[in-house]
Amino acid sequence: MLTEVINCENSIDKDGIKRAAELLREGKLVVIPTETVYGLAANALDEKAVANIFTAKGRPQDNPLIVHVASKDWLPRYAAEIPESAKKLMDAFWPGPLTIILKKLPVIPSIVSAGLDTAGFRCPSHPIAHAIIEEAGIPLAAPSANLSGKPSPTLASHVLQDLDGRVSAVVDGGSCGVGVESTVITLADGHPRILRPGGVTPEQIKDVLGEVFIDRAVTHKVSMGEIVASPGMKYKHYAPKAHVSIINAPLDKMAEFVNERAKDGVAVLCFEGEQNRFNVQCVTYGQSDDGASQAQRLFDALRELDEIGAKTVYARCPSLDGIGLAVYNRLLRAAGFEIFNL
Ligand code: TXA
Ligand code: MG
Repeated sequence: MLTEVINCENSIDKDGIKRAAELLREGKLVVIPTETVYGLAANALDEKAVANIFTAKGRPQDNPLIVHVASKDWLPRYAAEIPESAKKLMDAFWPGPLTIILKKLPVIPSIVSAGLDTAGFRCPSHPIAHAIIEEAGIPLAAPSANLSGKPSPTLASHVLQDLDGRVSAVVDGGSCGVGVESTVITLADGHPRILRPGGVTPEQIKDVLGEVFIDRAVTHKVSMGEIVASPGMKYKHYAPKAHVSIINAPLDKMAEFVNERAKDGVAVLCFEGEQNRFNVQCVTYGQSDDGASQAQRLFDALRELDEIGAKTVYARCPSLDGIGLAVYNRLLRAAGFEIFNL
């Protein structure tokens, strides 16, 4: 299949948005930019279109998709129950990088929710994503637009590396501002629980709801047989080709550790301004004291490590507060949970 690139980079291009919406209404796959990462979108109400998402990504069938809506007013058409706490979260964080798990109505086909009776709902704030959903007039099921297992795409060029020839169109909206995926929260057992940390931080949610729990799978490895609240948590993810290890240590100690092991194929994933401390190739991901810049850079940096031919990567450990928890969660998965505390 020929993949059409629809350029929307500089402004809200009306023709581009009309074209993307038209393809989606026809049941085609269209990659759209969002404020978090690019999404591989299809009509969430069309079972066949949604099945093609799983094929294009090579995604396991038991991993449910997020349903993207244009506004919270759309929710009663697709969600069976909207608890008071969900309303508070929507008022505070929608449109934006927060996915809320709610009981779904039967109109959402079970392929979207991988057989669960719930679905994740999100209202993206990216103006192009918003305009496409509004113009299409249908909810969009959209996972991140990478091949399963690869780092999520934050640029249209990342999408084309993975999905050229597998989707009808890619809408190029430039680089994604947040850079890591949305926060996924469930309210199912009466208490708010974060299943995946993301663009909205636990601190922000606590401010709105008074309490928030963080699922153990966010920072701990779950075994393949284990039942997890969010099926996406159990897969190896975000991984470049290299073997990645996280080094939890002060910069001096890490530099000593890495420089003792310097040889061809060894690389470091560090913060800006730290490159001169290492005698190996370095790729940077943001500033050491700025979680938002780390989130924005992380996935691009992981892809860059492949481009420089890194075989072994030692990664600086981010701080875990604020959006840092999301950065740490993604890096942990990229590293297959290998972390050295020096
Ligand atoms: O920022 C984002 O959320 C991006 C953009 C495109 O919106 N989308 C995204 O989708 O990251 P995906 O499919 O890569 O990740 C969705 C996550 C998975 O971990 C999945 O298991 C979880 O959300 N999820 C979806 N529906 C769920 C449900 N009903 N119950 C529990 N977890 C669910
Ligand atoms: Mg994903």
